Amino acid sequence: MQNFDYQTPTRLVFGENAIEKLPAALAALGKRVLLTYGGGSIKKSGLYDHVKKLLKDFEITELSGIQPNPRYNPSVLDGVRLCKEHKIEVILSVGGGSVLDCSKAIAAGACYEGDPWDLISYKVKTKAALPIVDILTLAATGSEYDSGGVISRTETNDKVGYMDPLLFPVCSILDPRYTFTVPPKQTAAGCADAMNHILEQYFCEDATLMNDGFCEAGLKSLMVNTRACLANPEDYRARAEMMFACTLACNGILSLGNSESGWPMHGIEHALSGYYDITHGEGLAIITPRWMRHILSDRTLPRFVKYGVNVFGIDPALPEKEIADKAIDATYAFFESIGIPMHLREVGIDDSRIGEMAHHIAVNEGLENAYVPLSEKDIRDILVASL
Ligand code: NZQ
Ligand code: ZN
Repeated sequence: MQNFDYQTPTRLVFGENAIEKLPAALAALGKRVLLTYGGGSIKKSGLYDHVKKLLKDFEITELSGIQPNPRYNPSVLDGVRLCKEHKIEVILSVGGGSVLDCSKAIAAGACYEGDPWDLISYKVKTKAALPIVDILTLAATGSEYDSGGVISRTETNDKVGYMDPLLFPVCSILDPRYTFTVPPKQTAAGCADAMNHILEQYFCEDATLMNDGFCEAGLKSLMVNTRACLANPEDYRARAEMMFACTLACNGILSLGNSESGWPMHGIEHALSGYYDITHGEGLAIITPRWMRHILSDRTLPRFVKYGVNVFGIDPALPEKEIADKAIDATYAFFESIGIPMHLREVGIDDSRIGEMAHHIAVNEGLENAYVPLSEKDIRDILVASL
């Protein structure tokens, strides 16, 4: 078992009417608020009006239009400018992972005099950030309980992960009812993203029995509850369990004491959504079974056997290689069954830039240090198999 040093400072307020605690949570942090949100789902659902009403005693400045795969330019830059102009004291992010990730970069940029990209690219260490409170409307990324964000810079096809302990939200308001309106495509993609977060931690060299149990339970919960959410989008219990699993899946708690895995599938997917602006969870679902097939070997076989038996209930008496093959097939079949397009061509990616992307990933993602090291050729083979 590996050493670790762990702290998550984020307060989670979970359940129906969690929003009643919002005004007090914000008031403890300041009066001048930057309200960040996306393309309008919160206006359609009525959440925007509700928030405005609750915050009538605060001074609110708004940043709207934050896109999926949030952009450095204009969203991060505009947000930083607004924070400085209006002397913002706290950011309130209302939306999915993209709004929250963007808000994290804004929070740090607002406390820095230079170009915020210096912080995102780790050229300069983050020394301060505004506090963030969020109201989550989409169960997927786990950004509500982690210290990271992912920012896209379209002119260079970069999609960069940015983490710092100062970026943990202070408080996350998690009311599963706000996810009732999430469309099937995003519900399925959110499930694939969270399942992948768990798989990225499960497939490693040295894992504890306790973590394996948490991971296997998380994967099963996500599969059962996503099916239920798709069948009935207003199934409170299913939306709640899905949100809970997504929140826990990405903050590192499921791999405390495990060896590092290097998060190879995320390394590959971030290039896909950086180059082609696809939905992150869909890209991951496409890559996952191909990555699994690529790394299956005598060394990794025991992990696949455990995964197949404990997550999919495959007969442990079967030959080990057969269990592993069935587990990979079952992973593919599950994603396909919830409506995810399972080929890159179906999401608009052909073979024309595969070599360029493989090179970009090999240079930028450090996957030669992953659980199973991946060279540029390995990455290209996985991408070609995903076409
Ligand atoms: O913009 P609006 O109008 O709000 O619509 C959004 C958006 O179009 C919509 N949506 C959100 N809540 C809704 C809703 N529609 C109806 N009802 C609701 N309640 O859903 C669309 C997608 O939203 P987005 O925030 O992009 O999705 P998600 O939460 O999956 O976030 C994806 C981003 O997070 C990054 C991804 O790379 C991607 O950029 N990630 C962040 C991570 C982190 N911070 O730890 C880890 C992940 O691995 C991931 O990389
Ligand atoms: Zn992810």
